[in-house]
Amino acid sequence: MASRSEIELLIHTGPGTPCGDLMRRYWQPVALASELPPDGDPLPVKLLGEELVLFRDDRGRPGLLDRFCAHRGVDLSYGRCDPGGLRCLYHGWLYDVDGTCLEQPAEPAGSTFHKRIRQTAYPCRETGDLIFAYLGPGEPPELPELDFYLAPDSHRVVSKIFQESNYLQALEGTFDQSHLSILHRVPPADVAIKAVTLEESAKSHYALLSEDVAPRIETERTHFGFREYVSRKAPEGEYLKVETFVLPNLGVVPGAAAGRGGYQGNFHVPIDDFSHWKYYIKFREDGPLDPATSNEGSYGGEALTPDFRSPRNAENRYLQDRKVMKQHPFVTGMGRGFAFHDTWAVESPGPIVDRTKEHLSYTDKAVIVLRQTLLEAIAQMQSDTLPAQSRDGSDILAIGDVVPPGTDHEAYLAAKIAARRDARSSFAAKS
Ligand code: FES
Ligand SMILES: [Fe+2]
Repeated sequence: MASRSEIELLIHTGPGTPCGDLMRRYWQPVALASELPPDGDPLPVKLLGEELVLFRDDRGRPGLLDRFCAHRGVDLSYGRCDPGGLRCLYHGWLYDVDGTCLEQPAEPAGSTFHKRIRQTAYPCRETGDLIFAYLGPGEPPELPELDFYLAPDSHRVVSKIFQESNYLQALEGTFDQSHLSILHRVPPADVAIKAVTLEESAKSHYALLSEDVAPRIETERTHFGFREYVSRKAPEGEYLKVETFVLPNLGVVPGAAAGRGGYQGNFHVPIDDFSHWKYYIKFREDGPLDPATSNEGSYGGEALTPDFRSPRNAENRYLQDRKVMKQHPFVTGMGRGFAFHDTWAVESPGPIVDRTKEHLSYTDKAVIVLRQTLLEAIAQMQSDTLPAQSRDGSDILAIGDVVPPGTDHEAYLAAKIAARRDARSSFAAKS
């Protein structure tokens, strides 16, 4: 069980904090690529407690700079994208994506002062419809080549939602499997609408989750995090779910494309200690993924605000409908969207839940392992023994399958990993 001081270690991710240093050793999503089109405006962004500006230069390269100009601190997100980089509106200093100051138009002719100026800049890369940034020391590691980044664009749907809570309580939610059978229930009529019957079963995975609300949970540590195995009784045998934690803040889960040859990444990216972005990366191996259908499970037919906020929030009490709750005693009354149920669950305790008052139970097995995994990674980083990052993701498992009674889990999962490797090589061959 993590102590109070250990929890303190995990929840702070600003500059100079141990967990912030850990997060900075890995590429982090900083925006959806669609937020920064080729002729797009600079975007003010906050990542890991740092105020930054994201822009695209005239060569199409994304750049991430300290938001405040090195001259006299003006906000560069109001600046102009000019040939070569981003120009401050106050005195016209021009910065390229590396933070080099290219021009200072108001300085005397022949001045070389600009050569001594460097705006803080972080490397950016684009993959899988996302823009990633590396805020750590030294040379950045290779960008991971996970399945959902390698897949053809038509096979992937990305989105993000703002959550007013520390990243950790949302990350814990991703590995808290028992809540899927309780919090995310929808009225039977909606189950029929949403039903995507699993190949191996006559039932959809929504229905299977409701059939057995007290799953058996096991975990297995890996060099890049851990896997969680969750077993529920099913009419045909066993409903087996596997999720993977990839250090330091990515959860890979079966999600909406489960049973249709796909799975989903949930990236919990700290904005600061009190809020985070949850990025959803949905992907299907065996064919195109329709954005409307794949987002139905997350948003239940409701639209996010233009700035990616939930239409259901604390101010409107998450638009909870108590009448629906009376008709269907097991539903939340907060619509069909899983994302909005989760937003309520992570925001309602307050931005930083008081873990000194929690009573962890059997269902929190993976939450405990998650905290241990992060604490160990911080210790390893501090002693310079942080293991190499999982680059290719071929060991990542995210499945939701019905298997016959008595299935040998080890053999079944080994076959799944082998199948994943084959699918990856077919993407690599096509790309
Ligand atoms: S404050 Fe930016 S150029 Fe002067
Ligand atoms: Fe959830």
